[in-house]
Amino acid sequence: MSKLVIYAGNKKSKINKEIYGHFSEHLGRCIYEGLYVGEGSKIPNIKGMRTDVVEALKEMKLPLLRWPGGCFADEYHWKDGIGPKENRKKMINTHWGGVLEDNSFGTHEFMELCDQIGCEPYINGNLGSGTVQEMSEWIEYMTFDGISPMADLRAENGRKAPWKVKFFGVGNENWGCGGNMTPEHYANEYRRYQTYCRNYGENRLFKIAGGPNVDDYNWCDTVMKLAHPYMDALSLHYYTFETKWEDKGAATGFDEKGWYKTLKNALYMEELVTRHSKIMDKYDPDKRIALAVDEWGCWFHVEPGTNPGFLYQQSTMRDALAAGVTLNIFNKHSDRVRIANIAQLVNVLQSVILTEGEKMLLTPTYHVFRMYQCHQDAALVDSFIETKETGIDEVKVQNLYESASVAKDGKLNLTVNNLSVTDSYAVNSILVDWKVNSVKAEILTNDMGAFNTFEEPDIVHTEEFMEFKITEKGVDFTIPPCSILHLTIE
Ligand code: AHR
Repeated sequence: MSKLVIYAGNKKSKINKEIYGHFSEHLGRCIYEGLYVGEGSKIPNIKGMRTDVVEALKEMKLPLLRWPGGCFADEYHWKDGIGPKENRKKMINTHWGGVLEDNSFGTHEFMELCDQIGCEPYINGNLGSGTVQEMSEWIEYMTFDGISPMADLRAENGRKAPWKVKFFGVGNENWGCGGNMTPEHYANEYRRYQTYCRNYGENRLFKIAGGPNVDDYNWCDTVMKLAHPYMDALSLHYYTFETKWEDKGAATGFDEKGWYKTLKNALYMEELVTRHSKIMDKYDPDKRIALAVDEWGCWFHVEPGTNPGFLYQQSTMRDALAAGVTLNIFNKHSDRVRIANIAQLVNVLQSVILTEGEKMLLTPTYHVFRMYQCHQDAALVDSFIETKETGIDEVKVQNLYESASVAKDGKLNLTVNNLSVTDSYAVNSILVDWKVNSVKAEILTNDMGAFNTFEEPDIVHTEEFMEFKITEKGVDFTIPPCSILHLTIE
């Protein structure tokens, strides 16, 4: 039996709901088709936003949505996406598939989408190819309340009242697609651009500086050293491949080794956030500055026959486990990790929703986010689980991973992952400072390669879980292989 101890009375950091954020880029069929179909579409929509997708995202409790990119952000000129649609500038999306971008989805449409979903917008500004003035005016356009050139333009375009915009990214991946800068150069550019990102009226910006790629600790150190007083967060991007970038592996039809390799790579997030956070501690010991993991998730080869620039991939139980452990890692590091955005929301990379014409399906990753919504804005509590190695040949991972929190309604929520493909584990849990009266549980489990299809959209789904026993000291349960278990304990 594996022992699990939860110190339920020892409340630690708040798990910011923004850790459960998502990302929507003008890439492939994420925005167009996935989220926005236009008012004239046969697909049911409100103001052009797909009703089926919006309803599912509300149910999942999506708190934060990043837009318009990604690499697209540093090529995006926001003025191309406002005003009458027929007059909007058409361009080629050179980064993603070379397709026509007609700018019919712009600032007003994004804000409408966020309103319909009930989530906060996270706008990513263009530092790579845009001007300081352009970035400054975008903020004025969105948030200034009164008479000003940009506020007047907004009113002319049908929106008198300003929007509330808190989360604002100053560039994206400026070590790569955002300008191939050195950290010193970016830090100076960041200082300059952010100076003109103004707080108008009551609106307060939360400025996110472009941080490191994966384990680029030098980038983290240099940007923190040179620019930390001017930022509220530093971003981190890390994608999980099966082996490495050049050999990403297929999203489906993998073997057990592919399963363990991917999960091992997902678990690497723990080392990344620990080490980056330690560097940030040098300049920010009080942890005022958040680590924003604003791009993460599994990245595999595209589905055969699809545009390689569209990054369309299926999502299996392996993605669900990768999401499950990553979110548990974020929960445990929520003193520093306060924003995260899985890439991407619909039809791109590790999506929670896939669409095909009028059809849509929820991926296994969707179910993980829906189950884990219990942690949003809850208080992390200390928990420790006894683990052992599982895996195949030289690829070994820990068998179990967990996190626990106490929600505002006073309930204790525990999410546990079993990473083994073959073995179930009996867990004996002890709850310190907590008397268990009742337990409700749900589970997501299936074969390692299982996924939902448009023909059979409900192969992978959550079910009620009854294999537990309340004991004098806690609750005992047996967690099946390949599964994500959520217990709500009162
Ligand atoms: O999410 C896809 C791309 O990955 C983003 O545009 C970019 O920021 C990252 O390299």
